[in-house]
Amino acid sequence: MTVLVVATGNPGKLKEMQSYLEGTPWQLQLKPPELDVEETGATFLENACLKASEIAKVTGEWAIADDSGLSVDALDGAPGIFSARYAEDDGARIDRLLMELGDRSDRGAQFVCAIAVANPQGEIVIQEEGIARGEILRDRQGSGGFGYDPIFYVPKVEKSYAEMTPEMKHQFSHRGLAFELVLPKLKLLEGD
Ligand code: IMP
Repeated sequence: MTVLVVATGNPGKLKEMQSYLEGTPWQLQLKPPELDVEETGATFLENACLKASEIAKVTGEWAIADDSGLSVDALDGAPGIFSARYAEDDGARIDRLLMELGDRSDRGAQFVCAIAVANPQGEIVIQEEGIARGEILRDRQGSGGFGYDPIFYVPKVEKSYAEMTPEMKHQFSHRGLAFELVLPKLKLLEGD
């Protein structure tokens, strides 16, 4: 088993990553709590790479990082990389987004998840992005999930993220799509 440090202090994110990486010989570990990497990149991918590289260099282990968020077409991609900082909590973030979008008819949006893996020297060896297209609802729909889930609707399955089971969300979400691209590459690294 090779240690793979997850560049997050959030045990929920560790658990979700564990479910994607089940059956691989990578042993996931939370990053040391005192180690915080500033997200100064201009894109999701830049931020994921920054976090993975820094955590790998400091710990001397392999590291994986993700950066994700919601980009709304009619708001020129906002909140984008500022999704987590758009307002003080999930409820207020949704309220702000619905207010900024108003009753505009162009409600297209996409969730993006960038994932980067760095080797113990801090060099990025994998970088991938999963994108899930959808629409911003006018009101909240569904009670599952977290963050912007209740207002993100996927027409293909006629459900908001908050109405999906975890298995369904894995299949259709930006994070699921990103891991689908990352997993085969991680498997190739196993023998290194
Ligand atoms: P991160 O932890 O820096 O990647 O910030 C991601 C932010 O984007 C979170 O705070 C959420 O507000 C939002 N976000 C990312 N993925 C999802 C998702 O699957 N559902 C709902 N909101 C999400």
